[in-house]
Amino acid sequence: MAFLLKSAHVVDPAAGLDEVCDVLIEGDKIAAVAPSLEAGDATVLDMSGKYLVPGLVDMHVHLREPGYEHKEDIESGTRAAAKGGFTGVCSMPNTDPVADNGSVIEYVKARAAAVGHCRVFPSGACSRGLKGEALSEMGDMVAHGAVAFTDDGRGVQGAGMMRRCMDYGKMFGKVFMSHCQDEDLVGDGQINEGAVSTRLGLLGWPAQGEEIQIARDIELAKLTGAKLHIQHISTAYGLELVRRAKEEGVEVTCEATPHHMFLSEDDLDETYNTSLKVNPPLRTQADAEAIRQGVIDGTVDAIVTDHAPHAAWEKSREFELAPFGMIGLETSLALVLTNMVRTGKMGYDRLVEAMSIAPRRILGLDPVSIRPGSVADITVFDPELTWTVGEDGFESKAANSGFTGVELTGRATDVFVGGKQTLAGGAVC
Ligand code: DOR
Ligand code: ZN
Repeated sequence: MAFLLKSAHVVDPAAGLDEVCDVLIEGDKIAAVAPSLEAGDATVLDMSGKYLVPGLVDMHVHLREPGYEHKEDIESGTRAAAKGGFTGVCSMPNTDPVADNGSVIEYVKARAAAVGHCRVFPSGACSRGLKGEALSEMGDMVAHGAVAFTDDGRGVQGAGMMRRCMDYGKMFGKVFMSHCQDEDLVGDGQINEGAVSTRLGLLGWPAQGEEIQIARDIELAKLTGAKLHIQHISTAYGLELVRRAKEEGVEVTCEATPHHMFLSEDDLDETYNTSLKVNPPLRTQADAEAIRQGVIDGTVDAIVTDHAPHAAWEKSREFELAPFGMIGLETSLALVLTNMVRTGKMGYDRLVEAMSIAPRRILGLDPVSIRPGSVADITVFDPELTWTVGEDGFESKAANSGFTGVELTGRATDVFVGGKQTLAGGAVC
């Protein structure tokens, strides 16, 4: 199958491209990129007015399969990913059974190959059963295709345990992705600790509960030489710790979510909207501003969603009983376009770095670029398309978005994964 994508504005900092071009896809590869190409036998798609970038990758996604298919499964989660413009996702291991051995990794990959609408790069747990007590079967998981290690959903509580994970796991060359949460300090904290938690009568989840483990893991990365990636960073001081460590030359990267960039604790009110209950919690407006600044200046390497689908009945329980998390795959690109690019805070090139290039680099995946010979993983979006979150429902099984009803401008229209079209004119293929 061949496609000629005509007259899209191609942005790819890795290829030095920021101009209107034609892109020819033949089989699973990009065959040619030039100002004007002949179609030959290729299917011609007019992409004028649209942007074409190397396929987006979300390196923090909960697909929930196996075990929690009432929230999401690999088919529906990757369908949401395609709708949001993603060509690949890194799946989190907090499934049932936990992805802490090669057979669960193999299962995720096999399901993704059978029913997936994008590539799935599985991460594996650091510790058995996410309990933070014994090492997971790291070598077995890598042999079956795990791309990273994380106990996401929980922090590894013991510093000695985290050191052993890093010391042992670093021989596989994979990154340690750290969900930073000191459980003793955070306890049953529900939202950011401060005036809002007091006013709403909810237990506080203090910033230090996250920052202590960021500081600890940076020191452990120095001690062990392991590659460290801080997940869903939410506080200004946590980000400052990462900034300083990078300046010192520590091999550390970090990620931020659109909800920590564009929402804050001030969005929580007497309606107790459980879609806004996330882990780590929405912080202060100053924290959100610092995270946005970090995305602009590159201290935040990657934008991720932490797509965390939950069933309606789970999220409609009392605030304290509802699970943490919000969905994000279908809104991430549009939120970044609307709030960061359209406002002139950052360029399309920075978006491509944070949502396509950096995630692949951190996970050690093959780079994808808009040039001949590259694998044809491509995202096309319309920067002028205005839509309202949730008005047409979601491709995800879940609807726990914190942005429902918000009007956004910019949306993925077409996606290609290895030359196969997974999104066509905004519809999942
Ligand atoms: O909000 C969250 N939900 N944060 C996490 O770290 C885990 C996730 C989940 O699994 O629901
Ligand atoms: Zn997490």
